[in-house]
Amino acid sequence: MSHDRFYITTPIYYVNADPHVGHAYTTIMADIFARHHRQREDDVFFLTGTDEHGAKIARAAEAAGRSPKAHADELSSRFRDLGRVLNASNDFFIRTTDPEHIAEVQRLLSVMHDRGDIYRDSYGGWYCTPCEAFYVEGELAPGNCCPIHGTPVEWLEEDNWFFRLSAYRERLLAYFDEHPGWVVPTARYNEARRMIDDGLEDLSISRSQISWGVPVPWDPDQVIYVWVDALFNYWTALTYGAGADGDRFWPPTLQLMAKDILKFHAVIWPALLMAADIPLPQRLAVHGYVLKGGEKMSKTTGNLVDPFPFIEDYGIDALRYYLSREIRFGEDGTFSAEGFDARYTGELANELGNLLNRTVNMIERYRGGVVPADGGADTQLSAEVGARTSEILAAYDHADVTRAVEAAWVLVRALNRLVEQRAPWVLAKDPDQAAALDQVLFSLAAGLKSVLVLLWPVIPESAERALAALGQDPTAVLMTDASFGHGVAGTTVHAVPPLFPRVEGRPE
Ligand code: MSP
Repeated sequence: MSHDRFYITTPIYYVNADPHVGHAYTTIMADIFARHHRQREDDVFFLTGTDEHGAKIARAAEAAGRSPKAHADELSSRFRDLGRVLNASNDFFIRTTDPEHIAEVQRLLSVMHDRGDIYRDSYGGWYCTPCEAFYVEGELAPGNCCPIHGTPVEWLEEDNWFFRLSAYRERLLAYFDEHPGWVVPTARYNEARRMIDDGLEDLSISRSQISWGVPVPWDPDQVIYVWVDALFNYWTALTYGAGADGDRFWPPTLQLMAKDILKFHAVIWPALLMAADIPLPQRLAVHGYVLKGGEKMSKTTGNLVDPFPFIEDYGIDALRYYLSREIRFGEDGTFSAEGFDARYTGELANELGNLLNRTVNMIERYRGGVVPADGGADTQLSAEVGARTSEILAAYDHADVTRAVEAAWVLVRALNRLVEQRAPWVLAKDPDQAAALDQVLFSLAAGLKSVLVLLWPVIPESAERALAALGQDPTAVLMTDASFGHGVAGTTVHAVPPLFPRVEGRPE
């Protein structure tokens, strides 16, 4: 396996309100990719963080009766804490109020200015503060409302600095044509390409009426438009958050986001990079919405689910598993307490948890706790593990987390079938069947070990506990450790408390 560089990002989250399951979703998905690539022994850098400037944050701070910075400090730390609770293995957490970020954004803007891509003009347009974006008349929802939030937009008229986005139309189209896989799924690629094809207006990239932002270096009465400040985080983080040779990670390998911010990432972001003379990201993976009651979970809709009670009751791996499996990556999916409980009980506890228990108990009872040697009779299972492993590698390469989890689960089910079909408790009664019993016990231990390594990116804590129960080194979770039968015979198993214990009552 070749070892590559892998730089993965999440959007940086607004600090206007508390994190919810929607934010947790993107961070968890990014973490699954990051962990999988560490299994491949790639050189991984995983970035997440918070977006802290702009009118939206300034207003939220005012409503909370504190300064924008004090407000941002408090809320940013809640996002950072959420990351820890999610078991996110990010290498850095960027804040757009970091002085190093601010200095680098100013430097980049000066480069764009010097190259002649920024000019001054006056502008009037309909502005949605929750989006921090202008809309043209034709894009608005009825009643002069934002097409995303459904809340009224405001008329904003200002003398601003503009970025010549329109001048990048041809270069952007050429980039899209030369890199047909650079935005996935394809429907989002087509949507973004259409936006460019339809024509682009120049972009106002500064604000004169707000002060909570990064000053425009040559005109400190204005602050840089929050989206320009925010998008550059993916670049600035490497200049101070990734060690001495952090720039080796550029360009991003995979950038995750929901479809609400497609235009910013697939149209404006590459144009800004072209203007700053920086190579473009390799792939954007645009996922769907976590819905609650049929609508996107968001502060504006007010249908938020707090992830913490679910994590407290079921454990973090249950949330990671549920979100990656239930919501087909790239599509919308519904979060429900009932669905969560059903997958926890039916799949994690009954299928995986029980499989481990039974395997360990049978090896203890019939073979004194020592995994027997391989008689080489289970070529079918070994071939199945090989096939699913290839499928999982391909799924991750296609940015498809859900398929990767499903493929691993095919193995969990195959192992449960093996237990039922070979009925070790029957074999154990007949001394002539000793070799057959050895084989099935070996196969169960070997199959489980492979599947736990393959599931490790999704349920890291549980996989490690289960590997320890099988007498394995819980830190040996590379893809090479997933090969069937590797280091399994002769290890001593240990019974452990249930991996996914019964949960009494559940959060709403
Ligand atoms: N600050 C901007 C992003 C700047 S990136 C340079 C922003 N922040 S946000 O707090 O609104 O977070 C948006 C991201 O959070 C979405 O793109 C998505 O990754 C995640 N999600 C927030 N709510 C979500 C759902 N209901 N469903 C899925 N993802 C959700 O936009």
